[in-house]
Amino acid sequence: MSTITVHKVAGRIGAEIRGVQLGRHLPAESLDVIHQALLAHKVVFFRGQTLDDAEQQAFAQLLGKPVSHPTVPTVQGTDYVMALDSAHGGRANAWHTDITFTAAYPKASILRAVKVPESGGDTTWANTHTAYEDLPPQLRALADSLWAVHSNEFDYTAANINPKDVDAAALKRYKDVFASTVYETEHPVVHVHPETGERHLLLGQFVKRFKDLKLTEFAPLYAILQSYVTRLENTVRWHWQAGDVAIWDNRATQHYAINDYADAHRVMHRVTVAGTVPVSLDG
Ligand code: SIN
Repeated sequence: MSTITVHKVAGRIGAEIRGVQLGRHLPAESLDVIHQALLAHKVVFFRGQTLDDAEQQAFAQLLGKPVSHPTVPTVQGTDYVMALDSAHGGRANAWHTDITFTAAYPKASILRAVKVPESGGDTTWANTHTAYEDLPPQLRALADSLWAVHSNEFDYTAANINPKDVDAAALKRYKDVFASTVYETEHPVVHVHPETGERHLLLGQFVKRFKDLKLTEFAPLYAILQSYVTRLENTVRWHWQAGDVAIWDNRATQHYAINDYADAHRVMHRVTVAGTVPVSLDG
């Protein structure tokens, strides 16, 4: 049996975990190493994995309660697997934290590379704790006092899905859900991580405005705060091989799927794990 080891990938975020095959029968000690590495490094990577959809869902249950996406249909035959298929518009090339337009957004995401382009199609993650720590005291005080409105209005999938590409049953489910469901919720711009106690900036593409501020004030303020998240020193970039798995702490990161592979085909399958309502500095 090989030993499980953890190797940092970048200075501030990301670690590769070696010597483990993910799946429903993962030993408790290995799960504990993964959990501790996830809290410390925010995103962890695994090469050479052999998960299929069923095994990915079953593995997710070891991390918590899997939840399906509120507006995107699941892959046929699964309860929780969402496909990001470039041929059907699944290109998540905007900085975001998954599903923050809901109150208790997912605490973790498990992403598996099903089909990868020969070149390009990397994903980048950013550490939202070190971004907060980097803010000068005056900006930190401002961020501490702000609340943001998150919404899926003009949902990323709506713009991209070509109805001809989706099978009839999936399309009906998609339309039924999407036509009737716009989600909107408010989150503190700075939240306290429920497991580490660290402070994090909570921003990303679903933020539409800051509560009690004008839109003209929102745009420049958002750009300044978000620039601390996405500066390259605060990120890690992963070059995918088919079978690779990434797990990220969705309460501690943003991510961006780099759309630089033109018509090459890229397919990723994601399962998210239920989280809790973020806690502000006031508790
Ligand atoms: C996602 O946004 O969850 C998907 C990222 C990716 O496709 O690399």
